[in-house]
Amino acid sequence: MIICHCNNITDRDIHAAIDWMRAADGQALITPGKIYHALGKAADCGGCMPLFLSTMRSNDNMEVPMQLRGLRRGTTQETQHERRQKSY
Ligand code: FES
Repeated sequence: MIICHCNNITDRDIHAAIDWMRAADGQALITPGKIYHALGKAADCGGCMPLFLSTMRSNDNMEVPMQLRGLRRGTTQETQHERRQKSY
């Protein structure tokens, strides 16, 4: 199925690019821009982004690497009081 009509990118192209990137680097953060780059193309109108992202999420290799999980939780706990003093 064609996902991006501007660049004629199919769901198979997206899955192949994700699988290739994951095989090359198991910890890589895969973004739509990296997929376009891997396919030698660039986004044009952006109208395909919701379907593009949905296709990416359906790939089994799109999990966030274990080493990168839970990083945000530590950050939000630190700034829980937004560094305000008690007088506020
Ligand atoms: S449809 Fe994908 S960039 Fe236009």
